[in-house]
Amino acid sequence: MSEREAAEDPGRALVSASGETEERALEAALRPKNLDDFVGQKRVRKQLSLVLEASRLRGSSADHVLLSGPPGLGKTTLAMIIAAEMNAPLRISSGPAIQHAGDLAAILSSLTEGEVLFLDEIHRMSRPAEEMLYMAMEDYRVDIVVGKGAGATAIPLELPPFTLVGATTRAGLLPGPLRDRFGFTGHLEFYSEEELQLVLRRSAALLDLKLSAGGFAEIAGRSRGTPRIANRLLRRVRDWALVHGLSTIEASHASAALEMYEIDAKGLDRLDRSVLQALIGKFNGGPVGLSTLAIAVGEEMETVETVAEPFLVREGLLGRTPRGRIAMPAAWQHLGLPLPEGASAVQFPALFDSLESEEEVAETEPEWFHRS
Ligand SMILES: Nc1ncnc2c1ncn2[C@@H]1O[C@H](COP(=O)(O)OP(=O)(O)OP(=O)(O)O)[C@@H](O)[C@H]1O
Ligand SMILES: [Mg+2]
Repeated sequence: MSEREAAEDPGRALVSASGETEERALEAALRPKNLDDFVGQKRVRKQLSLVLEASRLRGSSADHVLLSGPPGLGKTTLAMIIAAEMNAPLRISSGPAIQHAGDLAAILSSLTEGEVLFLDEIHRMSRPAEEMLYMAMEDYRVDIVVGKGAGATAIPLELPPFTLVGATTRAGLLPGPLRDRFGFTGHLEFYSEEELQLVLRRSAALLDLKLSAGGFAEIAGRSRGTPRIANRLLRRVRDWALVHGLSTIEASHASAALEMYEIDAKGLDRLDRSVLQALIGKFNGGPVGLSTLAIAVGEEMETVETVAEPFLVREGLLGRTPRGRIAMPAAWQHLGLPLPEGASAVQFPALFDSLESEEEVAETEPEWFHRS
């Protein structure tokens, strides 16, 4: 989101998963520096440590590594860790910065042996640069084209062995030939609440902050499975504690601080809640078309679709159907509202999954349950 939007809606800025430029400096201080400090992502961590260990034993540069996953889960952090663990220098660039093959040639030709080249947002590189990268990854060689048209000649240039670490939030957009040239692909998953608590404990220690177990749990629960959001919420809670002169931050303090920014117990912000409230209050749970829903909450369609919906869908609060958006039973629950009468089993498949015992069914089943 832009700075203007962030200023208009501080709650939205808090739970957005993407990192803003000024935030990057703060993040750097909290970034784990080695694999052991990197919390969670057990599978990726184990696989990666094997890849790195093997290359150390071989005495060669590590295989090329592709890291994919949603924003804020630790791709950049892992890239830096790879360089640190390999004791190798790190060069950083990104797809959008490489618009011509020449841009890439300039970077590649200045790499030193064993250097780690981190290409962020690698899916946004230009086609010609991508093709140059294929050869560089495979044969440590590039062809520099000099001149134009019939007189153009390709001058081959040998490269020292290097390790490419690519990061992408959109692995699906990477062309197959590029994806295939990575020796290892790590897909980062959202973090569990327990893992986020560990992230927070580590950050709190670095920031010299004291929180009770409940305080950590309260923040972790609102962090949407994302360490970047967890650390950001922790900073807001820290401000609150400072202003209120608290030495230990308890659950109630953390929740009071975050309520102030309208971040609720599940990590929903004002926009997320107003989408659910409109769906339920104005359209009886839907289905309703996206454009109508957007008008009802006074936002652009794109904002509702790309900013609010992904998390609501992930949390099982909202469903996308061919006939439009529907509120899921969890949405009523989350807003503390009773489920409407006449709700259908087709519309609410999740209702049936959430019923655990027979008594519970007897207690909660509505009248329509018997009819169908
Ligand atoms: N496993 C982790 N343990 C501890 N802190 C983490 C972990 N993963 C991420 N973080 C913290 O979260 C912040 C964001 O991580 P990072 O910049 O690596 O995310 P990213 O995946 O590169 O996001 P983007 O897609 O926006 O570039 C960092 O400040 C880092 O300290
Ligand atoms: Mg990053």
